[in-house]
Amino acid sequence: MRTIDLRSDTVTKPDRGMLDAMMAAEVGDDVFGEDPTVSLLQEMVADLLGKEEALFVPTGTMCNQIAVRLHTSPSDEVLLDAGSHIRNYEGGAAAALSGVQLFPIPGERGIISVSQVEASIRTGYEWEPRPRLLCVENTHNKAGGTIYPLERIIELGDTARKHGMGYHMDGARIWNAAVASGTSEHDFAAPFDTVSVCLSKGLGTPLGSVLAGSKEIMTDARRYRKLFGGGMRQIGYIAAAGIYALNNNRTSLALDHEKAQLLARGLDSFASVDIKLSNVETNIAIFDVVGGRTALQVLSELKDKGVQMVPFGPHTIRATTHRDLTMSDIEFALDRAKAVLN
Ligand SMILES: Cc1ncc(COP(=O)(O)O)c(C=O)c1O
Repeated sequence: MRTIDLRSDTVTKPDRGMLDAMMAAEVGDDVFGEDPTVSLLQEMVADLLGKEEALFVPTGTMCNQIAVRLHTSPSDEVLLDAGSHIRNYEGGAAAALSGVQLFPIPGERGIISVSQVEASIRTGYEWEPRPRLLCVENTHNKAGGTIYPLERIIELGDTARKHGMGYHMDGARIWNAAVASGTSEHDFAAPFDTVSVCLSKGLGTPLGSVLAGSKEIMTDARRYRKLFGGGMRQIGYIAAAGIYALNNNRTSLALDHEKAQLLARGLDSFASVDIKLSNVETNIAIFDVVGGRTALQVLSELKDKGVQMVPFGPHTIRATTHRDLTMSDIEFALDRAKAVLN
């Protein structure tokens, strides 16, 4: 049966061009710092983000967790949106790997405000945890691919500095934010001490993320990558996929956003769907199922029709578009979904 996989933008497979680039990679042992392809990828990302150095890491989770470790000591507090990936989808790693507690702020579609951060800052008594890191996620996954406004990013950075906190961006989908908003990755990244980006989401590589920051901070990051088990050897084969993706796959993210618009409009026409079209800013569409069925029931019915999505709450579903789907795949998925949702 033909299946349209809208579960995530991580389900893509490398295309011929990417595989050829991987096969042709020059490699070395990167734990000794001797893989020229990894070094090139790291330079490219550092350049793109306007940071001194960058470090290739297996996953976005490891990038974020290295950042948490870099900016904190055990018992410190990390301020972030309540729906953030670091809090919800990284297995409680911040507590396990860095011994910190997370202070969840209820953002507006994932976007937190300066006044919320100010209100979350402790008064400095010895019995209070010390706020040491402020994180934002751009685009915001759980909120539905929301783009962080640049002015807010800048204001929050000023606030973080004022209170002596580090400032980290989980930019797993920064590429989508840049293409959709016209603000460059460089401008989005400027106010941050550390930025993590993923190559395995919309850009289509099999794996790989990159953490960027100052030379000084990245020296420690390299140490924590090893400590967390992320030192890799002839990984230039994978870095080559990342270089290929950065050179070839960024601009086509705009098409993924068009696919998400088509999908969202189609879903909106179904009686059992409650979706806010203006919330669909990039490649993620989140909707509620109305009429009593749970998300899991609906997802099982959709799967039987050849359409896959993921649950995002008891009655909430997420659908994500990506480069391995065409506009006609989306039309096909809507046609199949109609029997379940209309
Ligand atoms: C916003 C965000 N940050 C971080 C990650 C973690 O990436 P990984 O799955 O590579 O650990 C994800 C994964 O989907 C994500 O959506």
